[in-house]
Parts: sequence; structure tokens; C-alpha cells
Amino acid sequence: MNSATNRKREYLTKKVTAVAHANIALIKYWGKRSRPENLPAVGSISLALEALKTETTFQFVPGLEDDRCILDGKEMNDQQKGKVSDFLDILAGTSGRMKARVVSRNNFPTAAGLASSSSGFAALTKAAAYALQIEDNPVLLSKFARRGSGSAARSIPGGFSEMKIGSDMSGKKDFAVQLYDENYWDIRVLIALVSTDPKETGSTEGMIRTARTSPYFDSWVRASNNDLAEMREALKTKNFSRMGELAEYSCMKMHGLMMSSRPPLLYWNPVTLEMIQLIWSLRRQGLPIYFTIDAGPQVKVLCRPDHIQEVRKNLQSINGISTIIESKPGPDAYIKDVTNS
Ligand code: DP6
Repeated sequence: MNSATNRKREYLTKKVTAVAHANIALIKYWGKRSRPENLPAVGSISLALEALKTETTFQFVPGLEDDRCILDGKEMNDQQKGKVSDFLDILAGTSGRMKARVVSRNNFPTAAGLASSSSGFAALTKAAAYALQIEDNPVLLSKFARRGSGSAARSIPGGFSEMKIGSDMSGKKDFAVQLYDENYWDIRVLIALVSTDPKETGSTEGMIRTARTSPYFDSWVRASNNDLAEMREALKTKNFSRMGELAEYSCMKMHGLMMSSRPPLLYWNPVTLEMIQLIWSLRRQGLPIYFTIDAGPQVKVLCRPDHIQEVRKNLQSINGISTIIESKPGPDAYIKDVTNS
């Protein structure tokens, strides 16, 4: 990455549009080894979601005094814009860079625990790197995306991907690679939207709190390699129940870790719990379905294509679920369009 960041940048002033899909972790990332480089404390394995995507149009504008950042039709707030500007400084290798106009749109509610930062920073990385004429190399772009958000590193390769971690603080080995593409295994994710309010404690702050205060943090880190190896094997053998059981286990372990932080982090609400109990009850009755939950109340159900109707019917019996989004595995981040103005 250093040779790329140190190189003098040439700014392409074309309008570049990139698309990236959000991803959900099957083996979770929670905790950091180092903040400035955003190095994860544990590796993770994820699945990109075809149905959840961010489309970002990026353009360097000569003479612009400050970055202009629009998200879902509205100016970003200072915190969001600050993150984008800092990230662009990293990508350009200097804060004295040309300023840019960034127009980004999610096709799902932002900041509701649906991993919008994963697709958001991956789309931004892809588009801005093109405008900076950075080599289109997925490893390099994944490392850059990681600086914006750890989970975004996994939305660069898409499909079924694994975030690797290095043993030092250089960040050279902290990037995601694709294990299998989106056509490898036709599994489905049903995302039940429980609440679309922005969360109280963001992931970055939550992770720092957990690493500092949870008595279980060291054992979470120690068990990580084993969890990753088991998930790799479940994916390799396309063993659905093993994959689902492991995903649920990693999710529950992460939420236990969050709850054991001080003050505690509880991202669930009563509907989240009702869904967990429904999924377990349906499984006892023979329906092979599993769940995973990120830093929010939304429950994502992992199932096979032929069980979708039955899962939907059962989820509809729960009050408080506003929408159910169905997704297949999604692709890597890509450039959609480049135009002159
Ligand atoms: C719960 O990638 O949002 O979704 O690196 O601080 O931006 P930062 O965190 P972020 O964390 C995602 C955490 C998670 C689990 C996961 O996606 O692995």
C-alpha cells in the first residue's frame, strides 16, 4: 500500500459510479488490534448480499473548497462527512488533495444495522480509487476499504469472502479475499426489518468499549482461528446445517461479548428476541433455518431457496416486522459507469 499512497496522484475529473453490495458476517468481526490502520482483532468470513447495495458517484472537482457529500438525497452530517473526507485523504495520500463531490445512495435504510458502512466504503473505495488511477487490484482496494470500515474490506471481493489478519501492525496482511463467488452456493438470506432507527452506539465505539472492558475479550480472540477453520470447511463441503449452526454460534458469542461490556451493549429489542425464539422453534419442528444478527436489531435468516415461502409465512406472524428483504449471494464491487461530466 505504501508505494500506492506515496505516489504523486493524478486526478481524473470524470464522474465515476461504482456499486458495492453489503455483506453479513457468518463468522463475526468485533474488536480491533489498532485503530489508526483499523486492524481487526480477529479474522471474519462473510456473504455479500445481492439485494442490499450502495451506488456511489464520485467526481474530483477542480476549485471546490471542501468535499460535498450527499447520502440518500441529503447532505451528510458533519460526522459522516468527516469520515469520508479523512478516508479520501488516506486514499490520495495527502490532505492537500483536490476536493470531490460524492453522491451515494443505499437501496436500504442507512445505519439500522444492515451493514451500510460495508457497502458504502467499498463503493467509495472503488469509485475514488478509479478517479485517483490507483491500480484496480482487489487486495490493494480491500486494504484501503478497511481503513474506512473493517467490514467494507469484505465487500470489495464480494461472494463468500474471508478477512485475513496479519501478525504485525503494518496492515499489509489485513485484507479480504474471495473464497467462492456468488454462484458457488444458492443459499438465501431473509432480512426482517425490525426497526430502522439509527443505532445508539456505532460499531467502532462499541468495539473499543468491548476490548477495554469485557472479561471475555481474550477468549473471543483466542477461539477465532478455530471458528474460521470450521466455517471454511462448512463452506467447502456445502454443509448447510454446519454453516448455519456455526454462523449462529459466532453471532451469539459476539452478542454475549457485547453484553458483557461495561456499560453493556445491547443491540436487540423484544422483536429480535421473538424472532430468535421463533427460528429455534421452527428448527425443532424440522425446518433447517438459522439466523445471524449484526450491531442492530435486524435478524437475518439463513435458509435454502425451497424454504423461503414457509419462513416468510412464519415471520409474518410476528408483530413489529415492517419489511422482509430476500437476498441471494452478491458479487464483488464494480465500476458501473464513467462519464465526462
Ligand atoms: C457487527 O465494519 O462497521 O457487523 O471497522 O469500526 O467500521 P468498523 O466496524 P464495522 O463493524 C462490523 C461489525 C459487525 C460484524 C461483522 O460485520 O463482522
